[in-house]
Amino acid sequence: MKKAIFITVRNGSTRLPEKANLEIQGVSTIEYLIHRMKNTKKADCIVLCTTENDADDNLVEIAKRNNILYFRGSEEDKLERWKGVAEKFNIDFFCTADGDDIFCEPFLIDLAFEQFERKYPDFIQDGGLVTGAFTYGIKVSALIKVCEIKDSNDTEMMWVYFTDTGLFKVENLENVPHKFYRNDIRMTLDYAEDLTFFREVAKRSEKSKVYLKLDEIIDIIDTEPALKEINFFRQQQWADNQKKKTTLKLKGEQKMPNLVNPSKYLGNELSYIEKVLNSESWSATGGNWNQSFEKEFSKRFGIKYGVALNSGTSTLHAALEAAGVGPGDEVLSPAITVIMDATATLHANAVPVFVDVNRDTFTMDPEDLEKKITPKSKAIIVVSIYGLPAEMDRIMEIANRYKLVVIEDNAQCMLSTYRGRLTGTIGHMASYSFENTKHISCGEGGMIITNNEKYAEMVRKVGGHGFKNLKAEEGRIRLKQEVFQDPDYKRHDVLGWNYRMPEFNAAIALAQLERVDHLIDLRIKSAELFIDIMKETNFLIPQKTPDYCTNSYYTLGVIYDGKEKLGVSWQDFRRMYIEAGGDGIYGAWSVPYLEPVIQNKAYLKRYPEVYKGLDYQNGLCPVAEEIQPKLMQFKTNYRDVGIAKSKAEILKNLVRQISK
Ligand SMILES: Cc1ncc(COP(=O)(O)O)c(C=O)c1O
Repeated sequence: MKKAIFITVRNGSTRLPEKANLEIQGVSTIEYLIHRMKNTKKADCIVLCTTENDADDNLVEIAKRNNILYFRGSEEDKLERWKGVAEKFNIDFFCTADGDDIFCEPFLIDLAFEQFERKYPDFIQDGGLVTGAFTYGIKVSALIKVCEIKDSNDTEMMWVYFTDTGLFKVENLENVPHKFYRNDIRMTLDYAEDLTFFREVAKRSEKSKVYLKLDEIIDIIDTEPALKEINFFRQQQWADNQKKKTTLKLKGEQKMPNLVNPSKYLGNELSYIEKVLNSESWSATGGNWNQSFEKEFSKRFGIKYGVALNSGTSTLHAALEAAGVGPGDEVLSPAITVIMDATATLHANAVPVFVDVNRDTFTMDPEDLEKKITPKSKAIIVVSIYGLPAEMDRIMEIANRYKLVVIEDNAQCMLSTYRGRLTGTIGHMASYSFENTKHISCGEGGMIITNNEKYAEMVRKVGGHGFKNLKAEEGRIRLKQEVFQDPDYKRHDVLGWNYRMPEFNAAIALAQLERVDHLIDLRIKSAELFIDIMKETNFLIPQKTPDYCTNSYYTLGVIYDGKEKLGVSWQDFRRMYIEAGGDGIYGAWSVPYLEPVIQNKAYLKRYPEVYKGLDYQNGLCPVAEEIQPKLMQFKTNYRDVGIAKSKAEILKNLVRQISK
């Protein structure tokens, strides 16, 4: 199996002419990249791939001077050029390093070679790494097939042929350290400022000219964040350009095959599960997987403690108990959310108080929140609904004023930002769910993260039978046998439940966490495809994401106004979409207090003195009651943007058809 790195470069760029010859650290940018690539351990050869244009003669000289192979081929068609290289040098698998990606990381290329030898995928993509840190890994037999079936020379954004046809085994690069997932750094040489950025970073190396590892590059940038600003402002322009992607054109009778949703479990899930099985330590009381998952998860947020439990409802309950919420206390939660925020409150013997929402963002309305606070108020559960943060500054200000504990319910929100801060880092505790549909999933699971040691310890005890030796950072019950094998030994000092997460779930969730950026990216890209289409309509109004927030789109929430505007009911619109081949429109859950369980006053039985007289009437949260029947949730958890694209196309046709 011969493995190569193809460095693709030409001099004809229009935005930044001759960029391969520009200077960095005393050499040309392309030589700098060649020097980096020579640090791979697994590549059998490096080939510089350029065109037959005279302008590229000097690139060939550079290849010769640096003792690497070179190849000259078609200017327009990158895929044909690569095919020529592969045939000439008998290559089986190659990784691409674009001439623009001068900080491309050889370690990541080695990871791709290793993954190829382990699993033989056709195409390995980078899934959200620092731009250009790793581009693609391609199996030559797959490349040859693409060259046979494609009906266009436009291969600039060539990946669509691998990812969108459904013909190939596409994987994401595995085992990548979290550190390399950054979307706040721009690392690709397209504009003049980019060169300044590369030069400034390289200049700060103590070992100038010597190969700087990506780790070190990121450390340099993090110690001097102003470096990012040199060129990051171009990111949007660059990203928009990337979106003008090559359109798939297949030859003759070739049809787009039936696309199947590829497995979500493409990472380390299976290998970790095997390790758990072999360890025979399947409970959090003895195994290490809960702890690893907790550590990695909380680290991702820069938060001190993570406590994994078995669902996003047990986390809410445990968090309320930890916050000291008890009989008769009031807990405020929004009226557009699942029932669990209210039921967790009831399980803590407290009284749910429902707060209305903002009509455009569907998140908790701070004004209504303040109106509903009483001397009995004890805590607020703020929900980042559909992946969008609520108005956290205002909510925290109100909470601090009334001394209320804020629990962020981020079951639907993973790594979204609010005014530059990550959701999950703003309230006093934040709760996550890893149920099957969530960004990260392990069947069922949950996590509380917090910087407060007392809360973390109490959440762990509430969820772990109240064992007295449980600590904020430690879920294992490590006791010397001789201490507890004693009839006089007393174990429990808190009234607890068993909410522990099994080790299997923790192992799967950890493997998912390793690819969380990619999983989020898929949801965002899928949502954006649908949002683009909705811009053409006046009856599908997506959840508004304020410009100071990012949305991780657990689902794309939309107000459907088609009944009023077109006379087409919610149900009919959904039926037409499904009949046309679309999928995944779901209705929003009822406003919680209108669910029978609340209307029937099931809570009375559990604590009559507390709940006597409690009654929830229609009209309590008018905005929520008005928008809930109109809400449509569009699916975003596609495992392949190609599939989302085909569904979005179906929506587009339907919208045009019914708008006529
Ligand atoms: C906003 C919100 N909170 C809480 C939960 C409860 O999570 P779990 O299903 O893991 O108990 C969910 C789950 O759907 C949710 O969407």
